[in-house]
Amino acid sequence: MAEGWSFPKGELLAGKKGLVMGVANDKSIAWGIASQLAAQGAELAFTYMGEALERRVRPLVESIGAEVMIPADVTDDGSMDAAFAEVERRFGRLDFLVHSIAFANREELKGSFIDNTTREGFLTAMNVSVFSFVDSARRAARLMQPGGSIITMTYLGSERVIPNYNTMGVAKAALEAATRYAAKDLGSKGVRVNAISAGAMRTLSLAGIAGGREKLSQGRKFSALKEDTSMEGVAGAALWLLSDLGRSTTGEVVHVDAGFHMIGLPDEEAEQTA
Ligand SMILES: NC(=O)c1ccc[n+]([C@@H]2O[C@H](COP(=O)([O-])OP(=O)(O)OC[C@H]3O[C@@H](n4cnc5c(N)ncnc54)[C@H](O)[C@@H]3O)[C@@H](O)[C@H]2O)c1
Repeated sequence: MAEGWSFPKGELLAGKKGLVMGVANDKSIAWGIASQLAAQGAELAFTYMGEALERRVRPLVESIGAEVMIPADVTDDGSMDAAFAEVERRFGRLDFLVHSIAFANREELKGSFIDNTTREGFLTAMNVSVFSFVDSARRAARLMQPGGSIITMTYLGSERVIPNYNTMGVAKAALEAATRYAAKDLGSKGVRVNAISAGAMRTLSLAGIAGGREKLSQGRKFSALKEDTSMEGVAGAALWLLSDLGRSTTGEVVHVDAGFHMIGLPDEEAEQTA
């Protein structure tokens, strides 16, 4: 796919209001998704982790003509109360939510899972990366009507052992289970909940994982498409799931990883270049 390729502008999300949580900079998956949602007519609000990030996030938000930017630390109930009250005040309702937030201490993302996982680090990863999703989904769903849609971001380390992913792999497994439970509960309200399992992408989060860079090149060598996961591919899946195109899909984990997840053994050509 050509570098810089993007979708033609459209109206798939015209009239819809969405909240995007997890933009830290222009490399963030949340931003890659948000920019394409805006190009399809969505009106977006953003939460970001705190004042320190505002300088990076504001120009992005302004570049798509959005105005609502709210600080929210997902580990702080008061901060979440205030953020969702502000979303309600500004938007009145929500049609979709993008949850693209995760964190684990660097020390937990290297070496032996058994030896390096601490109680505190484990609970931090589960709190920021999983509970935050349950909490945000509950708060967002209260503002949604039938047709509402929620997505979160996951990774293959939930299903298979990926070196150094460790605690985060366990958190992603919990996140995927939470996606299914939330989809069941919110299904009776007509709200859909799905997860996108993206291949390795060059973001701040990847830099926190030991050997993150190698994960990228391995994705390229061993994936069916023999290419990196593209932001456009991830944003395209988000567009499908968040718009009415996805209206019968819920509780799903969609792999967007150039076909990396389904390869059992690499072919000879890939092995030779490894
Ligand atoms: N980069 C990859 O290779 C990859 C692959 C698959 C899935 N993912 C997932 O995509 C999501 C987004 O990650 P990314 O790669 O775009 O990196 P990123 O660092 O740009 O995004 C992570 C976001 O989490 C936010 N965050 C962390 N702690 C928070 C807190 N306490 N309160 C509020 N926000 C907090 C950060 O501010 C940041 O915006 C994560 O769930 C990540 O696990 C990433």
